[in-house]
Amino acid sequence: MLEKRELGRSGLQLSPIGLGCWQFSKGENTAGRYWDSLEDTTMQEIIRISLNGGMNWFDTAEVYGSGASERVLASSLDAMDIGMEEAKIATKWWPMARKASSIEATIEARKDALNQRPIHLYQIHQPFSLSSVEQQMTSMARLHRTGKIGAVGVSNFSQKAMIESNEVLDTFDIPLASNQVKYSLLDRTIEKNGLLDAAKEHQIAVIAYSPLEQGLLTGKFHEDPSLIQQTAGPRKWMSKFRSSGLEKTEPLIQTLRYYAEKYDVTPSQIALNWMVQYHEGHVFVIPGASKPKHAEDNAGAMAFSLTREELLHISDESWKVQ
Ligand SMILES: NC(=O)c1ccc[n+]([C@@H]2O[C@H](COP(=O)([O-])OP(=O)(O)OC[C@H]3O[C@@H](n4cnc5c(N)ncnc54)[C@H](OP(=O)(O)O)[C@@H]3O)[C@@H](O)[C@H]2O)c1
Repeated sequence: MLEKRELGRSGLQLSPIGLGCWQFSKGENTAGRYWDSLEDTTMQEIIRISLNGGMNWFDTAEVYGSGASERVLASSLDAMDIGMEEAKIATKWWPMARKASSIEATIEARKDALNQRPIHLYQIHQPFSLSSVEQQMTSMARLHRTGKIGAVGVSNFSQKAMIESNEVLDTFDIPLASNQVKYSLLDRTIEKNGLLDAAKEHQIAVIAYSPLEQGLLTGKFHEDPSLIQQTAGPRKWMSKFRSSGLEKTEPLIQTLRYYAEKYDVTPSQIALNWMVQYHEGHVFVIPGASKPKHAEDNAGAMAFSLTREELLHISDESWKVQ
């Protein structure tokens, strides 16, 4: 089993894989309609299986169903009697048309949505607040100092904004723990634009979202392209889910299948194992799940280790389909 590791220099010990909880938005608000609405019992089961499989943290956000995801996460953990420190919670402030003052003004609403569970990692969801990075990080530092939040993170921040965030926090003696960005074997932008190298240099962890490229890297849509028509949100209109897109990425899926057979695991597990091992502990992943079996599958990606030679081979095959 892959060990827990520190998120940047935050002191927070997290499993390399956490559960992404956007799927728990219950179809509420625009962000929530991206996914099918799930039953409460299904979500609780997904959470239970994730914890049993060795995940010790959950990534949610204010904007996921206007708090619906936070509420179902907290009520499920409460119903299963999971201790406050047994399950670590990462959530995010939504900056749209808001100033930094809203970070502190809305923190009690986030705590209420989470049934007063601790916020172990609080992230700025997007870099488009009406206030400067300095003002946002100053608000985050105040919340950290008063114990309202644990570690401080950002999401979708450019290399420049990430480094500036780190510098502002540094004046308060607080490290920037992480930058949550899109990253997968089918999207290696952060390796091309220098963000990942800069994060490594400053010991800021990368939390990779959409690590399975929203299901594409499981190979299920390559196996049965008609599946995409049964999904609720906009994925069916994206070129990568159409036949030409599937054809382009098929060679990488074949590579994942090859190693899946070798290790008696699934292609998704190979993709996730690659993500958390290739950069030697620097990258965390948060695959979402809409079924309990997804959670079981994804947690199982921490139960084996690809060799360095295999990691390099998968990397080479992935570059060919970028
Ligand atoms: N910070 C940000 O701006 C941002 C943006 C996007 C996501 N996120 C976070 O990152 C998390 C993950 O990203 P994501 O949901 O976009 O993409 P993802 O994790 O790559 O894909 C999740 C989807 O893949 C399918 N899936 C997952 N595991 C599977 C398995 N083992 N077997 C078969 N299918 C499987 C499911 O699709 P079906 O539902 O079709 O079965 C699931 O809904 C989110 O939940 C959220 O917490 C953050």
